[in-house]
Amino acid sequence: MAALHNDQLGKIAPALLDWYDENARALPWRVGPAERARGVAPDPYRVWLSEVMLQQTTVATVTPRYQRFLDRWPDVAALAAAPLDDVLGEWAGLGYYARARNLHACASAVAARADAQFPETVAELRALPGVGEYTGAAVAAIAFDVATPVVDGNVERVTARLFAIDAAGGAFKKAVRAAADAMWPDARSGDFAQALMDLGAGPCRPRTPNCGACPLTDFCAARARGTAGELPHKAAKAKKPERVGAAFALFDASGRGLLERRPSDGLLGGMLGLPGTAWSEGAPSVDEALASAPARAEWRLAGAVSHVFTHFRLRLDVHLASTSARTATLADAIWLDPEEARLPTVMRKAVACATGARDDLFAVR
Ligand code: ADE
Repeated sequence: MAALHNDQLGKIAPALLDWYDENARALPWRVGPAERARGVAPDPYRVWLSEVMLQQTTVATVTPRYQRFLDRWPDVAALAAAPLDDVLGEWAGLGYYARARNLHACASAVAARADAQFPETVAELRALPGVGEYTGAAVAAIAFDVATPVVDGNVERVTARLFAIDAAGGAFKKAVRAAADAMWPDARSGDFAQALMDLGAGPCRPRTPNCGACPLTDFCAARARGTAGELPHKAAKAKKPERVGAAFALFDASGRGLLERRPSDGLLGGMLGLPGTAWSEGAPSVDEALASAPARAEWRLAGAVSHVFTHFRLRLDVHLASTSARTATLADAIWLDPEEARLPTVMRKAVACATGARDDLFAVR
């Protein structure tokens, strides 16, 4: 790591905070720097909710979903009192559904505290369901101004460049953490965290940083070396294995489709979906797949959809049938218009594939 002189280190936070005062993004969960200076305190519930939503999901995707969520459950007591299935439905399409289950569990844990408020220390926050190192630090810093580094992907990139951190793997993470500790200010910790995020989403973007627009360009070791655009070094990505499965779209005469609730402990846990086979690495034959069909019917192959999960790519063959009677053998069959059900993205794709083929195959509608 390039050692920054201490006089430079001390200049980073004031320069970045000055820039943030002028350039902060207006985001729906954010108390901006001017309001913050007037003493407006952030609502820890909103900070926590937004930070959980923003993990793995972009600001553009989260913004409308955050607002809907907040309209429906304006505070932690309301969320704790909501049925889990409603929370999962509201999360549909956002992915990483364990987040929604943890969100509900965390709201219940906060509501059960003596004061029914979020705790203010990193250690107590981290003891809550689903609150890991990042979320604990983000809520402590942004909601309560605790002086603790908040390191997400954007902050990691900005820090790696400022300190010209060349290392990879565990050594990289350690060096970033040490550098973040060294530059983190005691005051305005929450604004500093959000300023780093804005810098990372703006001038210090991933591929082609706009160093001319960066308030820290004079203190940036990578800029001095001409390596800002190369940092941080990307680890080579392993190719994801492919899994294959079958899904069954069974429609009744009124266009309702057969859905089931997935087991709570697996992938897409607790979400609604089309019934289907397990997803495995060898493709089953059509006969093997049809042995898992939820009803006797004249099944036809509507097509296939693909979807990328964290650890594998999925090809889902979509089988389609219509039934005049609801003869499904599933114990807990749910019949809904699948276009209106709150489905995870892969299941939305499968339903779209089935409904697209339905007109051709059955000439209904
Ligand atoms: N990404 C994660 N947390 C964020 C926040 N609080 N503001 C902007 N982007 C973010």
